[in-house]
Amino acid sequence: MKRSAKIITKIRKNPNKVQSKLLKHAEMQVFETVSELQIYLKAAQKSGKTIGFVPTMGALHDGHLSLIDTARSTADITLCSIFVNPTQFNDIEDFLKYPEMNQKDLALLHKASCNVVFLPSVPEIYPDGTKKRQKRNFGFLAKTLEEEFRPGHFNGMVQVVERLLQIVQPDFLFMGQKDYQQQLIVADLIGLMKIKTKLVVCPIVREKDGLAMSSRNARLSRPKRKLATEISKTLNRVKALFDENDLSISKLQFWGGKHLSHCHNIAVEYFEIRNARTLKPAKSRREKLIALVAVRIGNVRLIDNLLLN
Ligand code: PAJ
Repeated sequence: MKRSAKIITKIRKNPNKVQSKLLKHAEMQVFETVSELQIYLKAAQKSGKTIGFVPTMGALHDGHLSLIDTARSTADITLCSIFVNPTQFNDIEDFLKYPEMNQKDLALLHKASCNVVFLPSVPEIYPDGTKKRQKRNFGFLAKTLEEEFRPGHFNGMVQVVERLLQIVQPDFLFMGQKDYQQQLIVADLIGLMKIKTKLVVCPIVREKDGLAMSSRNARLSRPKRKLATEISKTLNRVKALFDENDLSISKLQFWGGKHLSHCHNIAVEYFEIRNARTLKPAKSRREKLIALVAVRIGNVRLIDNLLLN
């Protein structure tokens, strides 16, 4: 799967020139290979610079760019990777429809003053092929919610994030609360890998009408896009009910799920109130709680979440 490489300006191929020649428009370096990237990173780390890493699958929006902003204000060098990871798609249609827009993404990253972009090919990330997987055990955390509806998704996600962390060895890793279960698993992965990387979780960036930004939103027709606002509305309503009343967690959860399933054209996969640290079913209002939701509107799958306390 060769990704379009006609980028804002020439991709730097010669590692010897990396330090001396900067891309024409600004100091944004773009690397396609692990070896070139590592030469750059080694030099940066040697000179005492900290690396902030934002892994993405491209089709960037303001949610991704907020991670870049936070990285820029935290670390000396901000590195963004764009890699549509084939091993984390359990739905081939979702993979094939995943938008590839390297040109636009690079322009956005450039505008956001990102310092380095890593744009690897599949063989660069998986030199031994995509099948060979070292399976890590995250217990319940990787068996519930998303895993029930996207079996194998987290295996693929962990496979690529582990590989990227080994390549980049960042001081900071920036991930979004939008993919709540993902960042909990990655926090455990960092512990299991015994690496220095500090995970920074960034808040969900929303459209004006409350819909959590996602590259999948563009696939919604106008009426379905409008309908999608019911997701965040329901989450907010559940939080308001939680704040105002002494309703039990099961009642709140039932209300949220029922309210969404009553919306014509929304198929609810789950609406759950869970312990925000373990994702185990919540027992008491005194636990740290999160409401998590996944729905399908037509053939577009959307997720969102809201911390309740
Ligand atoms: P992707 O969906 O491109 O998301 C990249 C990062 O952006 C993730 O950490 C995600 O949580 C964050 N993000 C997405 N939408 C956001 C929003 N509206 N507000 C704030 N942050 C948001 O998540 C992945 O890619 C992949 O699984 C990846 C980690 C790159 C591994 O392939």
